Amino acid sequence: MALSNRTKKWMDKKNITLKGKTVLITGANSGVGLKSAECALYLGADVIMACRNLTKAESSKEELLKDYPEASVELMKLDLSDFSSIDAFVKEIKDTKKDIDVFINNAGVFHQSGMTKDGFENVIGINYFAVYRISEEILPYLANLSHKVVYCNTVSVVHKIARIDYKDFYYSKKYGHLNVYSRSKLCLAKYSYELSQKYENTNIFVYMIHPGISVTPLGVNAFGNIVKKIAPYVGGIFNSPEKSALQTIYILSKNPPAGSLVGPGIFGVWGFPKEGRVGKSVKTGRDELIEFTKNELKRRCHD
Ligand SMILES: NC(=O)c1ccc[n+]([C@@H]2O[C@H](COP(=O)([O-])OP(=O)(O)OC[C@H]3O[C@@H](n4cnc5c(N)ncnc54)[C@H](OP(=O)(O)O)[C@@H]3O)[C@@H](O)[C@H]2O)c1
Repeated sequence: MALSNRTKKWMDKKNITLKGKTVLITGANSGVGLKSAECALYLGADVIMACRNLTKAESSKEELLKDYPEASVELMKLDLSDFSSIDAFVKEIKDTKKDIDVFINNAGVFHQSGMTKDGFENVIGINYFAVYRISEEILPYLANLSHKVVYCNTVSVVHKIARIDYKDFYYSKKYGHLNVYSRSKLCLAKYSYELSQKYENTNIFVYMIHPGISVTPLGVNAFGNIVKKIAPYVGGIFNSPEKSALQTIYILSKNPPAGSLVGPGIFGVWGFPKEGRVGKSVKTGRDELIEFTKNELKRRCHD
């Protein structure tokens, strides 16, 4: 579980501490989210792991505490495929007046057939509509805190190849995993950029982060045994989950302008973090997406 010396050295050079700060990470029991939790603990933060499966989360927490026995690690239940779970999660944060400095929407799926509880195709439902719902509910609360809040949404490099067709938004005619996934991440990128503009001149700094390509359960679950077999051999040519987990630390140390996209420095898929270019496909058509999203939520959730 322990972080490599290289990663620790990279963080040490940033000369920052997260002592006294609280970092909340969704999907923190696995892959990049788990490594993000570990990096935050290394820098002294209190960590909240928001996870759908509390049994899995408990065992990840135990692993983390082996290296950081004095750390404060809290678990919260959050199932992004169910808006009532999202609402309960946000309510608990508000009711218990949680003081959050860094909020990382990391949880996501590449391929998961079926529908969310509220009737959305699973991938777009979990990767986009759920993060939209969380953000709409939590950001006004975070905006009332008396300090800066760094709010990161996890997109993917494949948002760059996506396009949005509102006539067949869910690819119901010709479903393809990569198409649906990349569309979900383009939607999230557009929405995140929109949020960064909306909260300009406030204490909320919204960013897009992306891990590049990293061998985690996400790919293994999506592509099955083939990935399991080749992962031990190809892992080295992709970004390690812990390198992919450093984007937020980069943001905390460099303070790039809100709305920046931060991912691996080499071709956007490998290496330590760097700011990337926010493309036209992210900046344009935001109003149309937001209107579509509101209508979809009204239609399916009656609210
Ligand atoms: N790995 C890559 O190459 C790559 C590339 C680009 C972007 N990303 C993005 O990076 C993020 C992290 O992915 P990863 O590679 O670290 O994958 P991962 O190891 O599979 O982690 C995904 C996390 O999301 C959680 N999750 C899935 N469905 C959820 C739901 N309905 N409600 C709450 N949590 C849910 C998972 O929980 P369970 O453990 O319970 O399933 C897990 O904790 C994702 O947003 C992904 O799209 C990854």
